[in-house]
Amino acid sequence: MTDPTSGLMPDPTAGPAAGPWWRDAVVYQVYPRSFADADGDGEGDLRGVRARLDHLADLGVDAVWLSPFYPSPMADGGYDVADYCDVDPRYGTLADFDLLVAEAAERGIRVIVDIVPNHCSAAHLWFRQALAAPPGSPERDRFIFRDEPNNWQSNFGGRAWTRVADGQWYLHLFDSGQPDWNWRNPDVVAMFEQVLRFWLDRGVAGFRIDVAAMLYKQEGLPDLPPDRQMAYLVPDGSPVPYEHQPELLDLYRSWRKILDSYPADAFPGPRGTVAEIWFDDATRAAPYLAGDGLAQLFNFRLMPAPWSAAEFRAVIEDSHRLAVETGGSVPWVLGNHDVPRMVTRYGVDQALVRNPTPDVLLGRIDVDRELGTRRARAAALLLLALPGAAYIYQGDELGLPEHLAIPDDERQDPMFERTARTFMGRDGCRVPLPWSGAAAPYGFADRPVRTWLPQPGDWAELAVERQRADPGSILALYRAALTERRRHPALGDGDMIWLDLGPDVLAFGREPGFVLVANLGAEPITLPAHNEVLLASGPLDGDLLPADTAVWLRTGV
Ligand code: GLC
Repeated sequence: MTDPTSGLMPDPTAGPAAGPWWRDAVVYQVYPRSFADADGDGEGDLRGVRARLDHLADLGVDAVWLSPFYPSPMADGGYDVADYCDVDPRYGTLADFDLLVAEAAERGIRVIVDIVPNHCSAAHLWFRQALAAPPGSPERDRFIFRDEPNNWQSNFGGRAWTRVADGQWYLHLFDSGQPDWNWRNPDVVAMFEQVLRFWLDRGVAGFRIDVAAMLYKQEGLPDLPPDRQMAYLVPDGSPVPYEHQPELLDLYRSWRKILDSYPADAFPGPRGTVAEIWFDDATRAAPYLAGDGLAQLFNFRLMPAPWSAAEFRAVIEDSHRLAVETGGSVPWVLGNHDVPRMVTRYGVDQALVRNPTPDVLLGRIDVDRELGTRRARAAALLLLALPGAAYIYQGDELGLPEHLAIPDDERQDPMFERTARTFMGRDGCRVPLPWSGAAAPYGFADRPVRTWLPQPGDWAELAVERQRADPGSILALYRAALTERRRHPALGDGDMIWLDLGPDVLAFGREPGFVLVANLGAEPITLPAHNEVLLASGPLDGDLLPADTAVWLRTGV
Protein backbone atom coordinates (compact mmCIF):
# COMPACT_ATOMS: atom_id res chain seq x y z
CA MET A 1 0.00 0.00 0.00
CA THR A 2 1.33 3.45 -0.80
CA ASP A 3 1.63 5.91 2.02
CA PRO A 4 -1.61 7.93 1.87
CA THR A 5 -0.26 10.50 4.27
CA SER A 6 3.14 11.18 2.76
CA GLY A 7 3.89 14.84 2.99
CA LEU A 8 1.05 15.37 5.45
CA MET A 9 2.07 13.40 8.46
CA PRO A 10 5.26 13.12 10.48
CA ASP A 11 7.29 9.99 9.97
CA PRO A 12 5.30 7.40 11.93
CA THR A 13 8.40 5.49 12.90
CA ALA A 14 10.17 8.51 14.34
CA GLY A 15 9.46 10.25 17.64
CA PRO A 16 11.21 11.59 20.67
CA ALA A 17 11.39 8.22 22.36
CA ALA A 18 12.35 6.64 19.02
CA GLY A 19 10.34 3.57 20.01
CA PRO A 20 7.54 2.11 17.94
CA TRP A 21 4.41 4.26 17.73
CA TRP A 22 2.39 2.14 20.13
CA ARG A 23 4.59 2.89 23.12
CA ASP A 24 2.97 6.25 23.67
CA ALA A 25 -0.13 6.00 21.49
CA VAL A 26 -3.61 6.96 22.57
CA VAL A 27 -5.92 4.34 21.13
CA TYR A 28 -9.68 4.73 20.94
CA GLN A 29 -11.83 1.62 21.20
CA VAL A 30 -14.75 1.52 18.80
CA TYR A 31 -17.48 -0.98 19.66
CA PRO A 32 -18.96 -1.01 16.15
CA ARG A 33 -22.47 -2.09 17.08
CA SER A 34 -22.88 1.03 19.22
CA PHE A 35 -20.72 3.70 17.58
CA ALA A 36 -22.82 5.10 14.71
CA ASP A 37 -25.54 3.65 12.51
CA ALA A 38 -25.41 4.79 8.88
CA ASP A 39 -28.05 2.44 7.46
CA GLY A 40 -30.68 3.17 10.08
CA ASP A 41 -31.32 -0.36 11.34
CA GLY A 42 -30.63 0.46 14.98
CA GLU A 43 -27.16 -1.13 15.00
CA GLY A 44 -23.90 0.61 14.26
CA ASP A 45 -21.93 -0.21 11.13
CA LEU A 46 -18.63 0.49 9.39
CA ARG A 47 -20.13 3.26 7.25
CA GLY A 48 -21.18 4.86 10.51
CA VAL A 49 -17.61 4.72 11.76
CA ARG A 50 -16.38 6.27 8.51
CA ALA A 51 -18.91 9.06 8.77
CA ARG A 52 -17.70 9.91 12.27
CA LEU A 53 -13.94 9.69 11.72
CA ASP A 54 -13.63 13.43 12.19
CA HIS A 55 -14.76 13.04 15.78
CA LEU A 56 -11.75 10.82 16.34
CA ALA A 57 -9.42 13.11 14.40
CA ASP A 58 -10.63 16.12 16.42
CA LEU A 59 -10.13 14.19 19.59
CA GLY A 60 -6.56 13.55 18.46
CA VAL A 61 -6.19 9.79 18.84
CA ASP A 62 -3.39 7.85 17.18
CA ALA A 63 -5.30 4.68 16.43
CA VAL A 64 -8.67 3.01 16.68
CA TRP A 65 -9.23 -0.53 17.81
CA LEU A 66 -12.36 -2.03 16.33
CA SER A 67 -14.11 -4.67 18.42
CA PRO A 68 -15.25 -7.60 16.22
CA PHE A 69 -17.29 -6.85 13.11
CA TYR A 70 -16.96 -10.35 11.63
CA PRO A 71 -19.89 -12.55 10.59
CA SER A 72 -21.40 -13.82 13.81
CA PRO A 73 -24.64 -15.12 15.28
CA MET A 74 -24.00 -12.63 18.12
CA ALA A 75 -24.11 -15.12 20.97
CA ASP A 76 -21.50 -12.87 22.60
CA GLY A 77 -21.78 -9.58 20.74
CA GLY A 78 -19.53 -10.75 17.89
CA TYR A 79 -16.83 -12.34 20.07
CA ASP A 80 -18.33 -15.51 18.59
CA VAL A 81 -16.74 -15.40 15.14
CA ALA A 82 -18.20 -17.49 12.33
CA ASP A 83 -15.75 -16.29 9.67
CA TYR A 84 -12.51 -14.52 10.59
CA CYS A 85 -11.98 -13.06 7.12
CA ASP A 86 -15.18 -11.21 6.34
CA VAL A 87 -17.51 -8.47 7.57
CA ASP A 88 -20.93 -9.27 8.98
CA PRO A 89 -23.59 -7.85 6.63
CA ARG A 90 -25.04 -5.93 9.57
CA TYR A 91 -21.78 -3.93 9.62
CA GLY A 92 -21.21 -3.69 5.86
CA THR A 93 -18.68 -5.27 3.54
CA LEU A 94 -14.95 -5.75 3.13
CA ALA A 95 -15.04 -2.79 0.73
CA ASP A 96 -16.39 -0.64 3.59
CA PHE A 97 -13.57 -1.89 5.78
CA ASP A 98 -10.96 -0.98 3.16
CA LEU A 99 -12.44 2.50 2.84
CA LEU A 100 -12.41 2.87 6.59
CA VAL A 101 -8.71 1.99 6.78
CA ALA A 102 -7.89 4.40 3.95
CA GLU A 103 -9.97 7.27 5.33
CA ALA A 104 -8.55 6.77 8.81
CA ALA A 105 -5.03 6.84 7.34
CA GLU A 106 -5.83 10.16 5.64
CA ARG A 107 -6.34 11.50 9.14
CA GLY A 108 -3.18 9.87 10.48
CA ILE A 109 -5.23 7.28 12.40
CA ARG A 110 -4.19 3.65 12.41
CA VAL A 111 -6.70 0.79 12.56
CA ILE A 112 -6.28 -2.17 14.89
CA VAL A 113 -8.62 -5.15 14.62
CA ASP A 114 -9.70 -7.63 17.25
CA ILE A 115 -8.58 -11.21 16.80
CA VAL A 116 -10.43 -13.88 18.76
CA PRO A 117 -8.20 -16.97 18.87
CA ASN A 118 -9.42 -18.79 21.98
CA HIS A 119 -12.74 -19.78 20.49
CA CYS A 120 -14.90 -19.31 17.42
CA SER A 121 -18.65 -19.43 16.92
CA ALA A 122 -20.60 -22.66 16.90
CA ALA A 123 -21.62 -21.47 13.42
CA HIS A 124 -17.99 -21.59 12.15
CA LEU A 125 -17.64 -24.03 9.25
CA TRP A 126 -15.01 -26.10 11.06
CA PHE A 127 -17.17 -26.51 14.12
CA ARG A 128 -20.14 -27.55 12.02
CA GLN A 129 -17.87 -30.07 10.30
CA ALA A 130 -16.69 -31.29 13.69
CA LEU A 131 -20.26 -31.87 14.83
CA ALA A 132 -21.01 -33.79 11.65
CA ALA A 133 -17.90 -35.97 12.04
CA PRO A 134 -17.57 -38.89 14.48
CA PRO A 135 -15.71 -38.87 17.81
CA GLY A 136 -11.96 -39.23 17.29
CA SER A 137 -12.07 -37.66 13.79
CA PRO A 138 -9.58 -35.03 12.57
CA GLU A 139 -12.49 -32.56 12.39
CA ARG A 140 -13.20 -32.97 16.09
CA ASP A 141 -9.53 -32.66 16.97
CA ARG A 142 -9.59 -28.97 15.99
CA PHE A 143 -11.71 -28.43 19.10
CA ILE A 144 -11.69 -29.91 22.59
CA PHE A 145 -14.10 -32.83 22.61
CA ARG A 146 -14.07 -35.36 25.45
CA ASP A 147 -16.20 -38.33 26.51
CA GLU A 148 -16.29 -36.98 30.06
CA PRO A 149 -16.18 -33.32 31.03
CA ASN A 150 -14.00 -32.01 33.85
CA ASN A 151 -15.30 -29.60 36.49
CA TRP A 152 -14.43 -26.32 34.77
CA GLN A 153 -17.01 -23.56 34.83
CA SER A 154 -17.62 -21.08 32.02
CA ASN A 155 -16.37 -17.52 32.54
CA PHE A 156 -19.94 -16.48 31.85
CA GLY A 157 -21.41 -18.83 34.47
CA GLY A 158 -22.59 -22.43 34.26
CA ARG A 159 -20.68 -25.44 33.03
CA ALA A 160 -17.84 -24.98 30.51
CA TRP A 161 -18.96 -28.08 28.61
CA THR A 162 -21.91 -28.80 26.35
CA ARG A 163 -22.99 -32.27 25.29
CA VAL A 164 -23.57 -33.08 21.61
CA ALA A 165 -25.93 -35.64 20.09
CA ASP A 166 -23.51 -38.61 20.17
CA GLY A 167 -22.74 -38.08 23.87
CA GLN A 168 -19.38 -36.32 23.62
CA TRP A 169 -18.85 -32.94 25.26
CA TYR A 170 -17.05 -29.90 23.90
CA LEU A 171 -15.24 -27.26 25.94
CA HIS A 172 -16.26 -23.59 25.89
CA LEU A 173 -14.63 -21.32 28.43
CA PHE A 174 -17.28 -18.73 27.53
CA ASP A 175 -20.74 -19.22 26.01
CA SER A 176 -21.86 -22.59 24.61
CA GLY A 177 -21.94 -20.78 21.25
CA GLN A 178 -18.16 -20.25 21.53
CA PRO A 179 -16.33 -23.59 21.25
CA ASP A 180 -12.66 -23.42 22.28
CA TRP A 181 -10.07 -24.17 19.63
CA ASN A 182 -7.50 -26.92 20.18
CA TRP A 183 -4.27 -24.99 19.74
CA ARG A 184 -2.25 -28.21 19.65
CA ASN A 185 -3.84 -28.97 16.29
CA PRO A 186 -1.66 -27.62 13.43
CA ASP A 187 -4.69 -26.71 11.28
CA VAL A 188 -5.67 -24.15 13.90
CA VAL A 189 -2.19 -22.65 14.04
CA ALA A 190 -2.03 -22.40 10.25
CA MET A 191 -5.52 -20.95 9.95
CA PHE A 192 -4.76 -18.09 12.33
CA GLU A 193 -1.55 -17.28 10.50
CA GLN A 194 -3.65 -16.81 7.40
CA VAL A 195 -6.10 -14.65 9.32
CA LEU A 196 -3.29 -12.38 10.52
CA ARG A 197 -1.97 -12.00 6.98
CA PHE A 198 -5.44 -11.39 5.61
CA TRP A 199 -5.93 -8.28 7.76
CA LEU A 200 -2.30 -7.14 7.56
CA ASP A 201 -2.59 -7.23 3.77
CA ARG A 202 -5.59 -4.89 4.13
CA GLY A 203 -3.48 -2.34 5.95
CA VAL A 204 -4.20 -2.85 9.63
CA ALA A 205 -1.64 -1.55 12.11
CA GLY A 206 -2.04 -4.51 14.43
CA PHE A 207 -4.28 -6.68 16.55
CA ARG A 208 -5.96 -6.69 19.90
CA ILE A 209 -5.79 -10.32 21.01
CA ASP A 210 -8.88 -11.51 22.84
CA VAL A 211 -8.50 -13.78 25.89
CA ALA A 212 -4.82 -14.04 25.03
CA ALA A 213 -3.70 -16.14 28.03
CA MET A 214 -6.12 -19.04 27.64
CA LEU A 215 -5.43 -20.54 24.21
CA TYR A 216 -3.55 -23.60 25.45
CA LYS A 217 -4.99 -25.81 28.16
CA GLN A 218 -2.82 -28.00 30.35
CA GLU A 219 -2.55 -31.56 28.97
CA GLY A 220 -5.03 -33.87 30.63
CA LEU A 221 -7.38 -30.98 31.49
CA PRO A 222 -7.03 -31.43 35.26
CA ASP A 223 -9.95 -30.49 37.47
CA LEU A 224 -9.82 -27.20 39.32
CA PRO A 225 -9.89 -27.18 43.09
CA PRO A 226 -13.59 -26.81 43.91
CA ASP A 227 -13.05 -23.39 45.50
CA ARG A 228 -11.14 -22.00 42.50
CA GLN A 229 -13.52 -21.33 39.69
CA MET A 230 -13.45 -18.97 36.74
CA ALA A 231 -13.32 -15.25 37.34
CA TYR A 232 -11.49 -13.88 34.34
CA LEU A 233 -12.32 -10.22 34.98
CA VAL A 234 -11.13 -10.58 38.57
CA PRO A 235 -7.98 -12.70 38.52
CA ASP A 236 -6.75 -13.81 41.91
CA GLY A 237 -3.26 -14.88 41.07
CA SER A 238 -3.37 -18.61 41.78
CA PRO A 239 -2.48 -20.74 38.76
CA VAL A 240 -5.20 -22.39 36.70
CA PRO A 241 -4.70 -25.06 34.03
CA TYR A 242 -6.23 -23.02 31.19
CA GLU A 243 -4.02 -19.97 31.51
CA HIS A 244 -0.37 -19.02 30.86
CA GLN A 245 0.69 -22.35 29.37
CA PRO A 246 4.31 -22.22 28.16
CA GLU A 247 3.42 -22.80 24.49
CA LEU A 248 1.87 -19.35 24.31
CA LEU A 249 5.21 -17.58 24.29
CA ASP A 250 6.34 -19.49 21.19
CA LEU A 251 3.05 -18.85 19.48
CA TYR A 252 3.30 -15.09 20.01
CA ARG A 253 6.91 -15.13 18.86
CA SER A 254 5.77 -16.74 15.62
CA TRP A 255 3.05 -14.10 15.23
CA ARG A 256 5.57 -11.37 15.82
CA LYS A 257 7.64 -12.70 12.92
CA ILE A 258 4.61 -12.42 10.67
CA LEU A 259 3.92 -8.86 11.81
CA ASP A 260 7.55 -7.90 11.39
CA SER A 261 7.55 -9.19 7.82
CA TYR A 262 5.46 -6.14 6.83
CA PRO A 263 7.39 -2.98 5.95
CA ALA A 264 7.63 -0.61 8.89
CA ASP A 265 9.06 2.43 7.18
CA ALA A 266 5.77 3.89 5.95
CA PHE A 267 2.39 4.47 7.55
CA PRO A 268 1.11 2.73 9.67
CA GLY A 269 4.64 1.94 10.89
CA PRO A 270 5.53 -1.33 12.62
CA ARG A 271 2.59 -3.65 13.28
CA GLY A 272 1.72 -4.22 16.93
CA THR A 273 -0.27 -6.47 19.20
CA VAL A 274 -2.05 -5.69 22.43
CA ALA A 275 -3.11 -8.68 24.46
CA GLU A 276 -6.13 -8.98 26.69
CA ILE A 277 -4.63 -10.62 29.75
CA TRP A 278 -6.12 -9.91 33.15
CA PHE A 279 -3.32 -10.18 35.67
CA ASP A 280 -2.88 -8.86 39.16
CA ASP A 281 0.54 -10.37 39.68
CA ALA A 282 3.15 -8.61 37.57
CA THR A 283 5.42 -11.67 37.57
CA ARG A 284 2.77 -13.47 35.52
CA ALA A 285 2.82 -10.76 32.92
CA ALA A 286 6.57 -10.31 32.68
CA PRO A 287 7.43 -13.28 30.40
CA TYR A 288 5.13 -11.95 27.70
CA LEU A 289 6.98 -8.64 27.63
CA ALA A 290 10.39 -10.04 26.70
CA GLY A 291 10.30 -8.10 23.45
CA ASP A 292 10.19 -10.87 20.88
CA GLY A 293 6.50 -11.75 21.13
CA LEU A 294 3.62 -9.55 22.14
CA ALA A 295 4.15 -5.84 21.73
CA GLN A 296 1.82 -4.84 24.56
CA LEU A 297 -0.28 -6.17 27.40
CA PHE A 298 -3.28 -4.22 28.57
CA ASN A 299 -2.98 -2.88 32.07
CA PHE A 300 -6.48 -3.32 33.46
CA ARG A 301 -5.50 -2.98 37.08
CA LEU A 302 -6.84 0.52 37.64
CA MET A 303 -10.37 -0.51 36.64
CA PRO A 304 -11.29 -2.63 39.65
CA ALA A 305 -9.64 -0.16 42.05
CA PRO A 306 -11.91 1.99 44.19
CA TRP A 307 -11.36 5.77 44.19
CA SER A 308 -8.43 5.80 46.58
CA ALA A 309 -5.01 7.38 46.17
CA ALA A 310 -3.35 4.49 48.02
CA GLU A 311 -4.97 1.85 45.79
CA PHE A 312 -4.22 3.74 42.60
CA ARG A 313 -0.65 4.41 43.63
CA ALA A 314 0.02 0.76 44.45
CA VAL A 315 -1.22 -0.31 41.03
CA ILE A 316 0.63 2.43 39.17
CA GLU A 317 3.91 1.74 40.97
CA ASP A 318 3.77 -1.97 40.39
CA SER A 319 2.71 -1.63 36.75
CA HIS A 320 5.25 1.03 35.92
CA ARG A 321 7.97 -1.10 37.52
CA LEU A 322 6.86 -4.01 35.32
CA ALA A 323 7.15 -1.82 32.22
CA VAL A 324 10.55 -0.42 33.21
CA GLU A 325 12.04 -3.76 34.26
CA THR A 326 10.91 -5.62 31.17
CA GLY A 327 11.26 -2.73 28.75
CA GLY A 328 7.74 -3.68 27.71
CA SER A 329 4.65 -1.63 27.08
CA VAL A 330 1.63 -2.01 29.36
CA PRO A 331 -0.97 0.57 28.26
CA TRP A 332 -3.30 2.08 30.84
CA VAL A 333 -7.01 1.40 30.64
CA LEU A 334 -9.90 2.92 32.58
CA GLY A 335 -12.79 1.58 30.57
CA ASN A 336 -13.78 -0.97 27.97
CA HIS A 337 -16.82 -2.91 26.80
CA ASP A 338 -16.54 -5.43 29.65
CA VAL A 339 -16.64 -3.23 32.74
CA PRO A 340 -19.04 -0.64 34.20
CA ARG A 341 -18.46 2.92 33.04
CA MET A 342 -16.17 5.17 35.08
CA VAL A 343 -18.81 7.77 35.91
CA THR A 344 -20.87 5.08 37.60
CA ARG A 345 -17.96 3.23 39.19
CA TYR A 346 -16.74 6.41 40.83
CA GLY A 347 -20.22 7.70 41.65
CA VAL A 348 -21.24 4.88 44.00
CA ASP A 349 -20.32 4.00 47.57
CA GLN A 350 -16.69 2.94 47.03
CA ALA A 351 -16.91 0.21 49.67
CA LEU A 352 -19.16 -1.65 47.23
CA VAL A 353 -16.69 -1.65 44.36
CA ARG A 354 -14.70 -4.64 45.62
CA ASN A 355 -17.55 -6.23 47.54
CA PRO A 356 -20.73 -5.82 45.52
CA THR A 357 -23.97 -7.00 47.09
CA PRO A 358 -26.46 -9.03 45.03
CA ASP A 359 -28.41 -5.80 44.44
CA VAL A 360 -25.31 -4.04 43.12
CA LEU A 361 -24.66 -6.89 40.70
CA LEU A 362 -28.11 -6.21 39.28
CA GLY A 363 -27.51 -2.48 39.02
CA ARG A 364 -29.74 -1.57 41.95
CA ILE A 365 -27.53 1.05 43.48
CA ASP A 366 -27.56 4.79 44.12
CA VAL A 367 -25.29 6.70 41.79
CA ASP A 368 -24.14 10.25 42.37
CA ARG A 369 -23.58 11.12 38.76
CA GLU A 370 -22.17 14.55 39.43
CA LEU A 371 -19.56 13.13 41.79
CA GLY A 372 -18.80 10.30 39.38
CA THR A 373 -18.36 12.76 36.52
CA ARG A 374 -16.06 14.97 38.54
CA ARG A 375 -13.91 11.97 39.36
CA ALA A 376 -14.02 10.62 35.80
CA ARG A 377 -12.70 13.99 34.60
CA ALA A 378 -9.85 13.83 37.10
CA ALA A 379 -9.18 10.23 36.09
CA ALA A 380 -8.88 11.28 32.43
CA LEU A 381 -6.06 13.68 33.31
CA LEU A 382 -4.39 10.96 35.34
CA LEU A 383 -4.70 8.41 32.51
CA LEU A 384 -3.21 10.73 29.93
CA ALA A 385 -0.33 11.87 32.15
CA LEU A 386 0.91 8.39 33.06
CA PRO A 387 4.01 7.15 31.23
CA GLY A 388 3.25 5.04 28.17
CA ALA A 389 0.24 4.33 26.01
CA ALA A 390 -3.42 4.72 26.94
CA TYR A 391 -6.72 3.33 25.71
CA ILE A 392 -9.98 5.27 25.70
CA TYR A 393 -13.27 3.42 25.41
CA GLN A 394 -15.87 5.04 23.17
CA GLY A 395 -18.21 7.25 25.18
CA ASP A 396 -15.81 7.76 28.07
CA GLU A 397 -14.77 11.00 26.36
CA LEU A 398 -18.45 12.00 26.69
CA GLY A 399 -18.70 11.01 30.35
CA LEU A 400 -21.42 8.46 29.67
CA PRO A 401 -22.65 6.65 32.76
CA GLU A 402 -23.46 2.94 32.86
CA HIS A 403 -27.06 2.40 31.75
CA LEU A 404 -28.33 0.49 34.76
CA ALA A 405 -32.02 0.47 33.87
CA ILE A 406 -32.08 -1.74 30.78
CA PRO A 407 -35.22 -3.90 31.06
CA ASP A 408 -34.41 -7.56 31.66
CA ASP A 409 -36.01 -8.70 28.42
CA GLU A 410 -33.87 -6.29 26.40
CA ARG A 411 -30.56 -7.44 27.84
CA GLN A 412 -28.28 -9.07 25.27
CA ASP A 413 -25.15 -10.13 27.15
CA PRO A 414 -25.11 -13.92 27.65
CA MET A 415 -23.73 -13.36 31.16
CA PHE A 416 -27.18 -12.28 32.34
CA GLU A 417 -28.86 -15.62 31.60
CA ARG A 418 -25.80 -17.77 32.25
CA THR A 419 -25.53 -16.37 35.76
CA ALA A 420 -29.22 -17.18 36.29
CA ARG A 421 -29.91 -13.42 36.21
CA THR A 422 -27.79 -12.76 39.28
CA PHE A 423 -25.46 -10.43 37.33
CA MET A 424 -26.85 -7.79 34.99
CA GLY A 425 -24.06 -8.37 32.47
CA ARG A 426 -22.11 -5.85 30.42
CA ASP A 427 -24.81 -4.25 28.28
CA GLY A 428 -24.87 -1.05 30.33
CA CYS A 429 -21.53 0.12 28.92
CA ARG A 430 -22.41 -0.91 25.35
CA VAL A 431 -25.34 1.42 24.74
CA PRO A 432 -25.36 3.29 21.38
CA LEU A 433 -23.56 6.64 21.56
CA PRO A 434 -25.45 9.96 21.61
CA TRP A 435 -24.27 12.26 18.81
CA SER A 436 -26.87 15.03 18.64
CA GLY A 437 -30.48 15.98 19.23
CA ALA A 438 -32.84 16.03 22.17
CA ALA A 439 -34.22 12.49 22.16
CA ALA A 440 -33.20 8.93 21.37
CA PRO A 441 -31.59 7.83 19.13
CA TYR A 442 -29.64 11.10 19.61
CA GLY A 443 -28.22 11.08 16.09
CA PHE A 444 -26.89 7.53 16.47
CA ALA A 445 -29.01 6.93 13.37
CA ASP A 446 -30.38 9.74 11.24
CA ARG A 447 -33.96 8.52 11.59
CA PRO A 448 -36.16 7.46 14.49
CA VAL A 449 -35.25 3.88 15.15
CA ARG A 450 -35.28 1.44 18.01
CA THR A 451 -31.62 0.94 18.87
CA TRP A 452 -30.38 -2.60 19.62
CA LEU A 453 -29.98 -1.60 23.26
CA PRO A 454 -32.21 1.18 24.58
CA GLN A 455 -30.63 4.55 25.35
CA PRO A 456 -31.57 6.40 28.54
CA GLY A 457 -33.95 9.34 28.20
CA ASP A 458 -31.55 11.87 29.72
CA TRP A 459 -28.56 11.67 27.40
CA ALA A 460 -29.25 14.81 25.31
CA GLU A 461 -26.79 16.87 27.32
CA LEU A 462 -24.11 14.22 26.81
CA ALA A 463 -24.36 14.22 23.01
CA VAL A 464 -21.23 15.06 21.02
CA GLU A 465 -22.80 18.05 19.29
CA ARG A 466 -23.86 19.58 22.61
CA GLN A 467 -20.45 19.00 24.18
CA ARG A 468 -18.54 20.39 21.22
CA ALA A 469 -20.23 23.69 21.79
CA ASP A 470 -19.34 23.73 25.49
CA PRO A 471 -15.73 24.56 26.45
CA GLY A 472 -16.41 23.18 29.92
CA SER A 473 -17.54 19.75 28.70
CA ILE A 474 -15.68 16.53 29.40
CA LEU A 475 -15.22 16.16 25.62
CA ALA A 476 -13.44 19.53 25.57
CA LEU A 477 -11.26 18.34 28.45
CA TYR A 478 -10.25 15.16 26.60
CA ARG A 479 -9.47 17.15 23.45
CA ALA A 480 -7.38 19.67 25.35
CA ALA A 481 -5.52 16.90 27.19
CA LEU A 482 -4.76 15.02 23.99
CA THR A 483 -3.55 18.20 22.31
CA GLU A 484 -1.30 19.01 25.25
CA ARG A 485 -0.07 15.44 25.40
CA ARG A 486 1.08 15.61 21.79
CA ARG A 487 2.75 18.95 22.32
CA HIS A 488 4.42 18.42 25.68
CA PRO A 489 7.84 16.72 25.58
CA ALA A 490 7.37 15.21 29.05
CA LEU A 491 4.19 13.31 28.17
CA GLY A 492 3.75 9.95 26.50
CA ASP A 493 6.44 7.33 26.95
CA GLY A 494 9.08 7.87 29.63
CA ASP A 495 9.53 7.90 33.38
CA MET A 496 7.85 9.46 36.43
CA ILE A 497 8.89 10.55 39.90
CA TRP A 498 6.41 10.41 42.77
CA LEU A 499 5.87 13.51 44.87
CA ASP A 500 4.52 13.15 48.36
CA LEU A 501 1.61 15.53 48.93
CA GLY A 502 -0.30 13.49 51.47
CA PRO A 503 -2.11 10.16 51.66
CA ASP A 504 -5.13 11.19 49.56
CA VAL A 505 -3.14 12.71 46.73
CA LEU A 506 -1.54 11.27 43.63
CA ALA A 507 1.27 13.50 42.44
CA PHE A 508 4.15 12.82 40.13
CA GLY A 509 6.62 14.75 38.08
CA ARG A 510 7.77 14.07 34.56
CA GLU A 511 10.71 15.71 32.86
CA PRO A 512 10.94 18.30 31.51
CA GLY A 513 8.83 20.52 33.70
CA PHE A 514 5.55 18.67 34.19
CA VAL A 515 3.63 17.70 37.33
CA LEU A 516 0.30 15.94 37.73
CA VAL A 517 -1.62 16.38 40.95
CA ALA A 518 -4.87 14.51 41.56
CA ASN A 519 -6.74 15.03 44.81
CA LEU A 520 -8.70 11.87 45.57
CA GLY A 521 -9.48 12.95 49.12
CA ALA A 522 -12.42 14.85 50.56
CA GLU A 523 -10.60 18.09 51.47
CA PRO A 524 -8.91 20.71 49.27
CA ILE A 525 -5.11 20.68 49.20
CA THR A 526 -2.58 23.37 48.38
CA LEU A 527 -0.97 23.02 44.98
CA PRO A 528 2.82 22.65 44.90
CA ALA A 529 4.91 25.45 43.39
CA HIS A 530 4.35 25.81 39.67
CA ASN A 531 4.59 28.29 36.80
CA GLU A 532 1.31 27.61 35.09
CA VAL A 533 -1.78 25.45 35.29
CA LEU A 534 -1.85 23.75 31.92
CA LEU A 535 -5.15 21.98 32.46
CA ALA A 536 -7.57 21.40 35.31
CA SER A 537 -10.32 18.82 35.46
CA GLY A 538 -12.56 21.23 37.38
CA PRO A 539 -12.57 24.74 38.85
CA LEU A 540 -9.71 25.64 41.18
CA ASP A 541 -10.01 27.77 44.25
CA GLY A 542 -6.94 30.01 43.97
CA ASP A 543 -4.00 27.80 44.88
CA LEU A 544 -6.28 25.18 46.34
CA LEU A 545 -7.04 21.97 44.49
CA PRO A 546 -10.57 20.88 45.45
CA ALA A 547 -11.57 17.29 46.20
CA ASP A 548 -11.84 14.92 43.22
CA THR A 549 -9.98 17.27 40.93
CA ALA A 550 -6.72 16.91 38.98
CA VAL A 551 -4.35 19.40 37.35
CA TRP A 552 -1.48 19.39 34.93
CA LEU A 553 1.15 21.89 35.99
CA ARG A 554 4.10 23.45 34.23
CA THR A 555 7.03 23.58 36.62
CA GLY A 556 10.71 24.52 36.47
CA VAL A 557 11.96 27.38 34.36
C1 GLC B 1 -13.02 -10.86 25.97
C2 GLC B 1 -13.91 -9.78 25.43
C3 GLC B 1 -15.29 -10.02 25.93
C4 GLC B 1 -15.76 -11.37 25.46
C5 GLC B 1 -14.79 -12.47 25.88
C6 GLC B 1 -15.04 -13.75 25.15
O1 GLC B 1 -12.91 -10.78 27.34
O2 GLC B 1 -13.41 -8.53 25.78
O3 GLC B 1 -16.18 -9.03 25.51
O4 GLC B 1 -17.02 -11.65 25.97
O5 GLC B 1 -13.48 -12.10 25.56
O6 GLC B 1 -14.66 -13.63 23.81
